[in-house]
Amino acid sequence: MQFPELIDRKRAGGALSVKELAFFVEAMCADRLSDSEIGAMAKAILLRSMDHDETVGLTAAMRDSGDVLRWDGLDGPVVDKHSTGGVGDTTSLILAPLLAACGAYVPMISGRALGHTGGTLDKLEAIPGYDVSPAPEGFQRCVREVGCAIVGQTERLAPADRRLYRVRDATGTIASTPLITASILSKKLAAGVSALVIDVKTGSGAFMAHLADTRELTNALVAVSRSLDLATSVLLTDMSQPLASVAGNALEVSYAIDFLTGARREPAMQQVVLALGAELLISTGLAAAFEDAQNLLVASLDSGAAATRFEQMVHRLGGPADLLVQTSRYLPKARVRRNVLPRRDGYVEAIDVRALGRAAAQLVATDAGAGFSAVARIGDRVGVDQPLAQIYAASETDASVAAAAVEAAYQLADTPVTGPRLVIERVGLQ
Ligand code: URA
Repeated sequence: MQFPELIDRKRAGGALSVKELAFFVEAMCADRLSDSEIGAMAKAILLRSMDHDETVGLTAAMRDSGDVLRWDGLDGPVVDKHSTGGVGDTTSLILAPLLAACGAYVPMISGRALGHTGGTLDKLEAIPGYDVSPAPEGFQRCVREVGCAIVGQTERLAPADRRLYRVRDATGTIASTPLITASILSKKLAAGVSALVIDVKTGSGAFMAHLADTRELTNALVAVSRSLDLATSVLLTDMSQPLASVAGNALEVSYAIDFLTGARREPAMQQVVLALGAELLISTGLAAAFEDAQNLLVASLDSGAAATRFEQMVHRLGGPADLLVQTSRYLPKARVRRNVLPRRDGYVEAIDVRALGRAAAQLVATDAGAGFSAVARIGDRVGVDQPLAQIYAASETDASVAAAAVEAAYQLADTPVTGPRLVIERVGLQ
């Protein structure tokens, strides 16, 4: 098979067969293709797209490019949640132990911060000792015995995605629906999950700016999953404001702990966590209907069972055994704190979440204990006595840069504003 001929065909708008896509993936993993050849194919796919059968073929080939985990002998379903990324999106830290407490097993392969969005692995690394790259046996034991483990992608899981993603990142070819679909689903399928919920974000802090693109991705994720026997549903959720009132690595871990223990549960986070969790409990038969699922999730939070799973996971993966009781002793705290006040009184009308996320990313780059807290939401009244956010920074200079970014990210109105709906749409099974 001549690879240049495949690139030419795709560039001309033709389709590639399952065999040809398997050849592409195999040659990529065996290092028989250069980065420029892979980049040329990615560009052709970005421009000409792929049909359903091609996307299924590419996803399956990428899944099979490394180990495919098996979870025989467990007494519950193996599930996962994926988010397209946002700001203050702490749901993974809450949902993995919560689902484990409800009887599911969650081998969660998470990512690092990308652009303006936070990364679950970076957040977990704010916990002293937490190992995001344990040996495969340690990861699997944690899932089997605790019910959940949140770790990074290993060398052996979907290695084709690692190479292809790196080349896409360098060649500006990330924003392709079939390539994103194959990338996300191949990793989940290789992790051996049988049910998946995907949180696709929309709004100023989402990766995809246009709702039409978001819908196209959503439909592809559901359709390709169905062809590969993965029960996937997608919730389209709002990212026109940060989901949590905090953004930052240690700050979000602390927020998740407060949520799990019940010390503080913000309604917006609760609504999204329960909606995502309910999808998985229903699709796997752990709950019969939405209300039962919500009741089970809330009971697992209120009993402390979810918090205990989180603590056990942290300890198993190298963190302290008593993180929940001694949170402030273990998590780093930035030295400088400052309130950001608006120039005038008003109601928050819109937030440039991308800019806010970039500012948070800059803060955490020098200090894992840095970021924002008390971030004002759309509709909140702000003024000289009511800040837009509180900044945690490593230095006064960092705080000043972040303060300017926060102020510029907020648009105020004179009259009350209604906040956006949090769960906008659902696409999925039945
Ligand atoms: N997340 C992934 O895992 N892959 C992509 O291609 C885009 C987002």
